[in-house]
Amino acid sequence: MNKSLRKAVIAGNWKMNKTPAEATALINEIKPLVADADCDVVVCVPYIDLFAALEATKGSNIKVGAENCHWAASGAFTGEVSAEMLKACGVEYVITGHSERRTYFGDTDVTVRDRTRAALDNGMTVILCVGEYLEQREQNITMEVVRSQTKIALAGVSKEELDRIIIAYEPVWAIGTGKTATADQAEEVCKAIRELIAELYDQEAADKFVVQYGGSMNAANADELLSKEDVDGGLIGGAALKAPDFAAIVKAASK
Ligand code: PGA
Repeated sequence: MNKSLRKAVIAGNWKMNKTPAEATALINEIKPLVADADCDVVVCVPYIDLFAALEATKGSNIKVGAENCHWAASGAFTGEVSAEMLKACGVEYVITGHSERRTYFGDTDVTVRDRTRAALDNGMTVILCVGEYLEQREQNITMEVVRSQTKIALAGVSKEELDRIIIAYEPVWAIGTGKTATADQAEEVCKAIRELIAELYDQEAADKFVVQYGGSMNAANADELLSKEDVDGGLIGGAALKAPDFAAIVKAASK
């Protein structure tokens, strides 16, 4: 294992926050603070903010992502947006499988796999979220849950395509709760995900595979979490909405 083979990725997940005007203002605030980042910086924003975000990030080192995509290219899917449409707008990243999608909007391991496939087919990089509920951790089945979510989502994904997948390990009990996993808990699962990649593909693929941690990562705890061998970045919710906090996490990942 060698962390130096991987470039850290810090991605904001804005969730259902910010109007287009507010998105422009926040990105303009973030831009100078992360201009010299030695990691990849992404902001995943609501669909309605994508054009504003793409415009505001022009010429900067910040990439833009969506928070979900549909598996079909087009059709009778009221309220959904396809990966093809996102690509046509110039969006480079997309989150799939976020626990809020799984919990509130009926996403399953299979639809997450299909959404991931559509994003890959359209040339995008996917931030694929996996993670256990509190009851599952208490039942000691975290590894089974995470392994099975990962295996199903990666079914049919080639080793070459793996270069465009990032897995975000997000324990559901740590999301938006202020309850961060300890650095050791994050490391344990991120390491297990890397081992699963080695098992499904090979060691070379595993060594360069980016695994993020997400769940109440903030300016104060980012250093410790990101110092772990298998934690290659973060998917940031609440703290991504405050420019100085997001920039502090980017700085911690740039060390
Ligand atoms: P949080 O959200 O940082 O607010 O816990 C993380 C996420 O849901 O991606």
